[in-house]
Amino acid sequence: MTGPSTVATVTPRAFLPESKLPAAVAWDGNAVRYLDQRALPFEIRVASARTADEIVEAIATLAVRGAPCIGVFAAYGVALLRRSIPEDAAFRAAAARVREARPTAVNLAWAVDRVLSADDMLAEARSIHAEQERVDAAIAAYGAELIPEAARIITHCHTGAIATAGGGTALGVILAAQRAGKRPVVYVNETRPLLQGSRLSELELRSAGVETILQVDSAAAISMARNAVDLVIVGADRVARNGDTANKIGTYALAVLAAHHGIPLYVAAPRSSFDASIADGEQIPIEERDKREVTHFGGARVAADEARAFNPAFDVTPHHLITAFITEYGVLRPPYSESIGEILRVS
Ligand code: MRU
Repeated sequence: MTGPSTVATVTPRAFLPESKLPAAVAWDGNAVRYLDQRALPFEIRVASARTADEIVEAIATLAVRGAPCIGVFAAYGVALLRRSIPEDAAFRAAAARVREARPTAVNLAWAVDRVLSADDMLAEARSIHAEQERVDAAIAAYGAELIPEAARIITHCHTGAIATAGGGTALGVILAAQRAGKRPVVYVNETRPLLQGSRLSELELRSAGVETILQVDSAAAISMARNAVDLVIVGADRVARNGDTANKIGTYALAVLAAHHGIPLYVAAPRSSFDASIADGEQIPIEERDKREVTHFGGARVAADEARAFNPAFDVTPHHLITAFITEYGVLRPPYSESIGEILRVS
């Protein structure tokens, strides 16, 4: 498998909070460019994918990550492969590999299927990308209304601009509340084992002037017990028809804690993260990743060679622990079979 070619790198010194990140994903004519999120926050590395191997590798290694962003990247990727693989069966096989590069985020299959059914695949990929901007803006606007003044918020994983290739979902809501002058304070869960919270959310929020406090995931209980938290807001990788929601591992624990402490938990997610084909969370495939993500930390071994490990990348939060969904169609409240059913019917 060939590695993706690096287009440009910038040293950490240039990556000051006020500096803007390059686009998460961009079409450049004969490749799909992407920001390699693995290098953040120490390096801004932009790379290019041209082949099916490179597209799959970028998604599988989380160089490109976040459910909607994976969808946008894969959409351009499939449009690119259509041009470079003239033989139909070979093209379909390559597109299928991209579609299966990660199993949990339904946005990936949704975007690939949309592109495959279009006459002009590149135009369809561009539409998916442009729609994400509009969808995220709507989610941010609906969500900001739910955030009280000076709210103390826990968020988990990273749901900002580079996770969607738009403006972000849960982080987009927090940033909109900040722009509205509400001065939120955010406890950022570090998000074991790949630290999307420490590496990405903390930086993005602080760069926008939001007060941030980084905490290990297991500190959420004491933060809540000390009455330091008003609400929790997270994103989603796949939502079933009944509202059961897969998101980054640790979200379920956070939801149980929030319910125990009487704290609302909101899920901000676009329609493309809702899977009309599944009734409940039991049917959501959960990605399990390399045990080295658990047995090593920052490349250094932290467990014995023989240690076995359980490393699910996601968990499923049962719908009854979710206060509301914030979507581009508005805020969905229980009973979810009805409110989710309605957006699935109109879209
Ligand atoms: O493994 P990752 O980093 O792709 O997981 C991402 C998440 O779990 C996000 O919360 C989700 O994809 C929503 S991104 C707007």
